[in-house]
Amino acid sequence: MIFTVAIDGPAAAGKGTISRAVADRFGFRHLDTGLLYRAVGMKGGDPGEAARSLTPEDLGRGDLRTLEAGQAASRVAALPEVRAALVEFQRRFARGEGGAVLDGRDIGTVICPEAEVKLYVTASPEVRAHRRWLELGGDEAQVLAEVRERDARDMGRADAPLRPASDAVLIDTSRMTIDEAVAAAVAVVEARLVGT
Ligand code: CDP
Repeated sequence: MIFTVAIDGPAAAGKGTISRAVADRFGFRHLDTGLLYRAVGMKGGDPGEAARSLTPEDLGRGDLRTLEAGQAASRVAALPEVRAALVEFQRRFARGEGGAVLDGRDIGTVICPEAEVKLYVTASPEVRAHRRWLELGGDEAQVLAEVRERDARDMGRADAPLRPASDAVLIDTSRMTIDEAVAAAVAVVEARLVGT
């Protein structure tokens, strides 16, 4: 079976948690595509070259979840050369045998427009910043500023900007618990699986 679940949305909307839960629930593989951009951003040197030569060690670094890595990721992610270097790997992962969940910014729009399920997971900037602050600590106002800056860069770039695919199902998690958000996503996937 080939079955792709594309989960896009802005920073700290809950994509990661939902993606892992959906993958577990259905026994699908999971790829957090943000990690690829974070690793490129933190590798240093020429970003295009960094993207073409990513290694498992680059993806295993301990500092990829930091705010700094998020900012570095969103800067290199605006470069067409970087995006182009990462497309094939993501497409192969998405359309490999056995079902796959990919979360990112452009999965439903660019990487896998043919995905069987497309979700756009979002929440207000304040709620997202609060969640990121609970995870990472620091100054909450600065975390909110960072979230807004990254949203603007991700939505405003020319190449693969963050936006919902026209046929994506929107899940606004602002007032949802994790369990409610996961249940909403699982229900969409289940309904589509029944039809295949
Ligand atoms: O976890 P969080 O939502 O904060 O970020 P992430 O998913 O790890 O992504 C980090 C950055 O990588 C984003 O701000 C985007 O600029 C970039 N990214 C992208 O351009 N395309 C993707 N498919 C995934 C991430």
